[in-house]
Amino acid sequence: MNELPERRIFLNDEYLPLKDAKISVLDRGFLLGDSIYEVIPVFAGKPFRLPHHFQRLNNSLNAIKIDNPHSDTEWREIIADLSSQYPDQDQSIYLQVTRGIAPIRDHIFPGEIKPSVFVMSTPLDPAKLPDPEKGIAAITLDDLRWKLCCIKATTLLANVLARQTASEQGAAEAILIRDGFALEGAASNLFIVQDGLLITPPKGDELLPGITRDLVLELATEHSIPFKEEAITLDELKSADEIWLSSSVREIIPVVKLDGVMRQPPGPLWKQMNQLYQKYKQDLRDGIISSD
Ligand code: PDD
Repeated sequence: MNELPERRIFLNDEYLPLKDAKISVLDRGFLLGDSIYEVIPVFAGKPFRLPHHFQRLNNSLNAIKIDNPHSDTEWREIIADLSSQYPDQDQSIYLQVTRGIAPIRDHIFPGEIKPSVFVMSTPLDPAKLPDPEKGIAAITLDDLRWKLCCIKATTLLANVLARQTASEQGAAEAILIRDGFALEGAASNLFIVQDGLLITPPKGDELLPGITRDLVLELATEHSIPFKEEAITLDELKSADEIWLSSSVREIIPVVKLDGVMRQPPGPLWKQMNQLYQKYKQDLRDGIISSD
């Protein structure tokens, strides 16, 4: 594997080594958090659910009124180029678009400026990810984020503080509670199982429409696993038979300890869904499923 500082990244129409990548201090992403991002896994060189990620990218850009700086074909080429650096490894593509570099710091959008684009690929090291068979500990925390959590914005301070608090308490994730309802993790979506029924909060402004979340529901539909999209109260979370969290990087991971209280080991529905998800991934690797 390349040493990380030597790895090639994409910055504003150029490929260059990470150590040479520089961005202006006047970039609005840096100054104001005026930017959005995507995280896209690549398995055996094949991007995972690319059209879904492009759709969410467009939704985020539209929501903050930035024109998409690249066509899908151009994005595909950038992703293919960067991921070709690690042909034998699974990776995660990080892609960020900011409003660009304005001549002065001002909250109001400047006139015509060119969005800044940064893309990098990072090998996924399975040893650094939690073992799903063992599950993870999570804590519940008050949701301190803003009201448009459906936008994949880089303004992640509330999420950063939540995950840091979780980490300081020996937990891998914080489940965010707003008005008595459990919405999602600081960097993951939430599922519970109650009496054989899979439940996840419905999409809306207060949570990120996760690509993994959608796949879980698609697999549930295909395999006749009963589910509903319905708000989950804190009490329902605490008394659930199973709790799972999902994200592109951590996949589907069961919660075995909540707020310091040990729960059941990973449950039967999680086992079934994880098998379906792993099969989907294998089919993508083998070219049985296309990433389109
Ligand atoms: N986060 N909810 C939030 C708040 C997230 O940040 C994420 C992912 C998800 C899961 O979405 P997906 O299944 O599309 O990864 C839900 C990424 C991985 C991150 O910020 O690094």
